Amino acid sequence: MAKHRIAWLPGDGIGMDVLNAAKIVLDALGFDAEYVPGDVGWELWCKEGNPLPDRTIEMLRKTDCCLFGAITSKPRDEAARELAPELRDKGFVYFSPIVRLRQLFNLHTNMRPCKAFKGNPLNLRDDIDIVVFRENTEGLYSGIEFHPVPADIMRLFAEHEPKARRFIDVPLQDIAVTVRLFTRNACRSIVTQAFEYAKKHNRPNVTVVEKPNVLRETGGLLVNEARKIARDYPGIELWETNIDAMCMWLVKNPQIYSVLCAGNMFGDIISDLSAQLVGGLGFASSANIGDDYALFEPTHGSAPKYVGMNKVNPMAALLSAKLMLEYLKEDEMAQVLENAVGRVIAEGKVRTYDMGGSASTTDVADEVARFCR
Ligand code: IPM
Ligand code: MG
Repeated sequence: MAKHRIAWLPGDGIGMDVLNAAKIVLDALGFDAEYVPGDVGWELWCKEGNPLPDRTIEMLRKTDCCLFGAITSKPRDEAARELAPELRDKGFVYFSPIVRLRQLFNLHTNMRPCKAFKGNPLNLRDDIDIVVFRENTEGLYSGIEFHPVPADIMRLFAEHEPKARRFIDVPLQDIAVTVRLFTRNACRSIVTQAFEYAKKHNRPNVTVVEKPNVLRETGGLLVNEARKIARDYPGIELWETNIDAMCMWLVKNPQIYSVLCAGNMFGDIISDLSAQLVGGLGFASSANIGDDYALFEPTHGSAPKYVGMNKVNPMAALLSAKLMLEYLKEDEMAQVLENAVGRVIAEGKVRTYDMGGSASTTDVADEVARFCR
């Protein structure tokens, strides 16, 4: 029997290409695993009206963790138009399977390293080494949304919050509401994860990215909990920065930042921004971690225009596999993999199109694998 059982969800578009690349490298490392394939993604939505079938969820429950490729996400109405004709108008509503997986398995911590590898021509600077900790299950992603807003909810808003009264005469079908819900537990958890990481890896500061001057309740809760938790970590500075200013500072002085910590939506934004500082989404790996399950995915999307071309940069998927190895306590393999990635980037002989080269996805995987044997 293999040592590890890995759920294998390539998903949409180039997901298969990049997961195959990861497999080439994992095999070269001698990673002892059984891979269990599962259905997820756009095709499932169109054919079955459910992008994340129950059979896939059941399968995941029987594995140690999941390697995930990429997913196509479209807004609700656009999704409804692509549904198989016999499924239309039957009440199927599209939701993002990756967001659902994070919530279903309570993968509360999304960790996204953004490190400038030496010699990457796409680095904004070569001294950037940022790790984003993004709360992964609530905030604006809680899924509590209304359009039109039910009359009793609007009435309650006005009753409890005078500022809601100026909307009371707006027709309900002309109001859309998305609830930004933060729990103290999730705030404490994401901040604690960020500080624990900083402590373990000797990082000097943690920056909490919020907007408490305007989002006083949600932003205020996160920042206040961060201040309390920071007291338990003398020697690690807590920096507080507003999301808008953070976008500016990350472009201006990215090298001074180390660990970033944010709620779900702001974490989504700063993780793309941070990724671009070190080569773009082709290098952006991520770990979605919960108390008893984890899912590893490149941060990029399904890149439909490159489907079947074996063309995209697999580095993000390879680095996600590295995060998976760490989660499974295969630390030595994780280190060998990261070193191999670093070496291939530095040598610069095998590069995909985004790095100015003409190598294929598999060429890059093979080259990384060569240094993993
Ligand atoms: C990400 C992506 C997802 C998100 C999308 C695909 C739903 O942007 O993982 O950052 O918003 O979380
Ligand atoms: Mg994103």
